[in-house]
Amino acid sequence: MKVTLSIIKADIGSLAGHHRVHPKQIELAQRLLEEAKSNGLLVDYHVTNAGDDLQLIMTHTKGIDDGEIHGLAWNTFKRVTEEVSKPLKLYAAGQDLLIDAFSGNVRGLGPGVAEAEFEERKSEPIAMFMADKTEPGAWNLPLYRIFADPFNTAGLVIDPKLKAGFLFRILDMVEGRFVDLKAPEESYDILALLGTTGRYAVHGVWRRYDGEIAAAASTTRLNFIAGHYVGKDDPVMFVRAQAGFPALGEILEPFSFPHLVAGWMRGSHVGPLMPVPLKYSQCTRFDGPPRLIGLGFQLAEGKLIGPSDLFDDPAFDMTRAKAEEIADYMRRHGPFMPARLGPDEMEYTTLPQVLKSLEDRFKSSDEMSEKPSFD
Ligand code: F6R
Ligand code: MG
Ligand code: MG
Repeated sequence: MKVTLSIIKADIGSLAGHHRVHPKQIELAQRLLEEAKSNGLLVDYHVTNAGDDLQLIMTHTKGIDDGEIHGLAWNTFKRVTEEVSKPLKLYAAGQDLLIDAFSGNVRGLGPGVAEAEFEERKSEPIAMFMADKTEPGAWNLPLYRIFADPFNTAGLVIDPKLKAGFLFRILDMVEGRFVDLKAPEESYDILALLGTTGRYAVHGVWRRYDGEIAAAASTTRLNFIAGHYVGKDDPVMFVRAQAGFPALGEILEPFSFPHLVAGWMRGSHVGPLMPVPLKYSQCTRFDGPPRLIGLGFQLAEGKLIGPSDLFDDPAFDMTRAKAEEIADYMRRHGPFMPARLGPDEMEYTTLPQVLKSLEDRFKSSDEMSEKPSFD
């Protein structure tokens, strides 16, 4: 069968600050999606949280960018905001519902979306990833390694279906344009873009062997929509696994390296992406460190079988210990770059207001030899 997998997420308020989703928010979202399942709109659903972000994982047969599915997600976020976040006075209630003008698609309104339509295989394993306190560019390094680095993915050398390479659709989030580039022959061009994580992000990856979609990711940058800082665009993505796609272990392998990502504390700092089990899907130290959860599912006629909590494994203990060490090292820099983001990114934070208040006090460098005034 042809199935569509849509993961739509938003931060619509959380417990104890920007910390974690409240169980009652999850409960109501589950109830609303259950109704949509009984009405036949959804085949199946799973609701979870990545820190303070509510994640709606939905399967259906409507295709991508469907008005009813996006409408369901939008109304779910609205109702959870009105019926749970606001009455409980959860922090930043309704935060990501930036533009209240839904007309068929949540893209550009605040929530993040990763979705793709594909023919369900004989067996369809899928790995889903959700992160908090970071941005879509956080997926650039792992996606490159999964689909273009043979030192990570043995299948690129060994499996004929992988050996044909993958096509990366890369979005320029500043200019709102995209480019399709092919690995392996355009690997250096792919890296030339993906290394600029605040501007370029991977929207989707296709297998060149037969044009099958292999991965889909969210690419929203809230501050580009709102023009100011409104929280980081904690991203989601999913990757199809096995049988001509990267093996589950090849998909997880890049996350054994806790690479540095932007978005920690006030969306203004750089920190290591720490993979955690669901029970630790909450940000604490310095509002972080940026955290990642992974859920493994099988699809069975669109039904979501699972999940398995992918990072609930001692194999990632060393990664977590390394992440903590890096977090410590980065924090020792306090407000200094590069632990704090550079001026381009800080433009969207509250720092410009602070700098503006100093504007009148700057003098020309020609007057540097003047004695300072001590009044
Ligand atoms: C939220 C986030 C947090 C907040 C910080 C300050 O996603 O990244 O680090 O930016 O807690 O939040 P306010 O300004 O709401 O007190
Ligand atoms: Mg929040
Ligand atoms: Mg968040």
